[in-house]
Amino acid sequence: MAWASPFRNDLVKDKVALVTGGGTGICFGIAKALGSHGARLILMGRRQDVLEKAQAELAGENIECAISSGDVRRPRDAARAVEQVSRFGALHILVNGAAGNFLCSAEDLSYAAFKAVMDIDLLGSFNMCQAAFPALRSHGGVILNISTTFHYGATPLQTHASAAKAGVDALTRSLACEWGKHGIRVCGIAPGPIAGTEGMRRLAPFGVKQKLKETVPLGRLGTIEDIATAALYLCSDAASYVTGETLVVDGGHWLAKPALIPWDLYERMKNDRQKQ
Ligand code: HXC
Repeated sequence: MAWASPFRNDLVKDKVALVTGGGTGICFGIAKALGSHGARLILMGRRQDVLEKAQAELAGENIECAISSGDVRRPRDAARAVEQVSRFGALHILVNGAAGNFLCSAEDLSYAAFKAVMDIDLLGSFNMCQAAFPALRSHGGVILNISTTFHYGATPLQTHASAAKAGVDALTRSLACEWGKHGIRVCGIAPGPIAGTEGMRRLAPFGVKQKLKETVPLGRLGTIEDIATAALYLCSDAASYVTGETLVVDGGHWLAKPALIPWDLYERMKNDRQKQ
């Protein structure tokens, strides 16, 4: 079934949005949602062929889109992407979605592996924010950092991603304070388990997906549209007084703990009490 957006289709009309990691998955979904609500897009990613495929798919939906192949770890690539945006007009929205992740225990994590994730997720987000700052400062805008809930508690096999995304959340809050005076809002989204994504493929193999689903209070995995809807809200004027905040969109997943008392045992206890 096609997604029915709850928003008017001119929600972000004429805004220009640069989306890193925008060629696939959640960030492609965010880009598509911004585009179908009136924004002009630049997708940035490392793989030219992936970007071209995304561009063609968006063109099929009459969404205008340019692409910029580059690595967010390199400040020069970040600057080039922002430079390309100027062909479209003034930049309003930066979505930092480029991320890298895999399952690995802390003792098996090499120096290069830890550094790769820190560099893509944290340093890469900072590089993009810094490159976009002069453009955003001239007229205000929004930065949306894609985070996670892994570091709210502790997540085994995710030391690298948890550390990187904790840094990203710190970036969201610090930049919100420093750049608020320029009319720049800085927000985040922390997605839970989202069906059909590279993240789920990598982090929830071997039937873990079903187990995960059972631990989500709302009883289902999230959809890319769940995240896109939150992104539309945060990137639009509807959120004009929201900054420094990372919105958790996870069906309650991170809050839930395995029940100490199984429900059937509780029911038996209740019945026993009523009989007394
Ligand atoms: C252990 C691994 C590994 C693995 C790579 N490495 N995969 N170590 N387990 N599964 C190690 C390599 O051996 C190497 O260390 C180091 O990491 C760098 O690897 P490279 O391949 O050289 O780096 P690079 O090409 O930059 O690739 C970065 C990457 C890769 C993160 C490792 O997986 C990638 O490009 N991913 C992008 C796509 C992606 O991850 N999407 C899923 C995002 S999920 P040595 O010591 O051997 O040199 C997601 C959602 C969850 O983000 C949100 C929470 C974060």
